Amino acid sequence: MAAPHVLKNPLPILTRLSTRWLQAGPYKSGALPAVSMSLLSTSSTPSISPLPHHHHLHRAFSTTSPTMAASKTFMDAVKERRTYYALNDKAPVSDDRIVEIVNDAVLHVPSSFNSQSTRVVLLLKEEHKKFWEMAKEVLKTMVPAEAFPATEQKLDSFKAGYGSVLFFENPVPVNDLQTRFPMYAQHFPTWSEHTSAMHQFVLWAGLEAEGFGASLQHYNPIVDQKVQNEWNVPQEWALRAQLVFGGRAGEPGDKAYQPLEQRVFVHGK
Ligand SMILES: Cc1cc2nc3c(=O)[nH]c(=O)nc-3n(C[C@H](O)[C@H](O)[C@H](O)COP(=O)(O)O)c2cc1C
Repeated sequence: MAAPHVLKNPLPILTRLSTRWLQAGPYKSGALPAVSMSLLSTSSTPSISPLPHHHHLHRAFSTTSPTMAASKTFMDAVKERRTYYALNDKAPVSDDRIVEIVNDAVLHVPSSFNSQSTRVVLLLKEEHKKFWEMAKEVLKTMVPAEAFPATEQKLDSFKAGYGSVLFFENPVPVNDLQTRFPMYAQHFPTWSEHTSAMHQFVLWAGLEAEGFGASLQHYNPIVDQKVQNEWNVPQEWALRAQLVFGGRAGEPGDKAYQPLEQRVFVHGK
């Protein structure tokens, strides 16, 4: 069974786990450009119009097939979501089911003022592999030669999966809200990050509830340009995260839990 909720000395493990992905990841090079500010860009490239909230649309995307996920409660899916680094290219469900989950998330995850600023690019099979090859090409020019084998190994472990979900934020609705509601102007970029994170979490837990393993990665902004060219992504969309998923080829690592008494405070029970 999973680790108990409260462990006595969680910090050393926590530190080890949370630094592991940094070591072989893109941040190792220490030569990264500053985080993209394109989210705040005021450029006015045409926006993709938000999906209308027609009832028939809702129904079209909510046909559920009897899958593993159907028997799970929401909180079970939340509790069972973990970071799976060991992936293979076997999918437990059809591509249509994956697309259905992505559509459901994008339609139903909330956004501030219903801005619907999140954009998702789903890459499957060969397209997914292409993405991780691109990341390799970019990192090869940035990471010192002696460190590259470790980076390459890490990237190959992602490439071994079945697909990647790329999460973007479109700044157009965000800028529009800033203009229309100046009182909240400073908050809209933050709320745009929040809605992106909510989409990331729902798809992470949602795909794992179907039997996939997944991990969340951040190879932006170094891959943004290549991604834009390859998959016709508008320049101003800002890549925020990549969710890599695939068949489970191993178990998640140990996880330490800081005491709930230090993190949850209940009044009035
Ligand atoms: C906002 C956020 C950013 C993360 N970034 C990365 C990342 O870039 N690379 C990675 O391998 N894991 C990343 N993770 C995964 C965390 O390290 C992981 O969720 C955490 O250690 C808890 O483990 P668990 O996912 O198995 O519950 C990220 C998680 C979150 C919530």
